[in-house]
Amino acid sequence: MNILEEMLQMARDAMDRAYAPYSNFFVGAVIKAESGRLYAGCNVENASYPAGSCAEQGAISAMILGGDTKIQEMVVMGNGEHLVSPCGSCRQRIREFANSDTVIHICDRNGVRKSMTLEELLPISFGPENLKV
Ligand code: THU
Repeated sequence: MNILEEMLQMARDAMDRAYAPYSNFFVGAVIKAESGRLYAGCNVENASYPAGSCAEQGAISAMILGGDTKIQEMVVMGNGEHLVSPCGSCRQRIREFANSDTVIHICDRNGVRKSMTLEELLPISFGPENLKV
């Protein structure tokens, strides 16, 4: 299995474990960090809706806990006709740990539907460099 296939399989498993009883919209996310290690996350909803969290957030938390801080490549996976691209807040969360050319694969259970760079998803972004004044 190549690394992308491994990421897709981890994302499928994460989707299957998502806690989404309110939206029934199950999302999995997998980060390949610079170390080569893979980190997965799923969305976790809450009866108090705004307290829920996205799959990308979970994957970022796992990465930080694992000792990595640089996202090399990422998979985001969800069902439906429309592309499940990271929400606006998650684009900014990814931005903290990625470069403009970091590739995000937008996927469904069957595989990659579209691959985009962070710069395409979040152009002219605000990041840690802005605070180095
Ligand atoms: N969701 C994610 O986990 N990631 C995204 O990028 C889009 C939305 C989740 C949040 C919520 O649990 C459900 O999908 C419906 O919005």
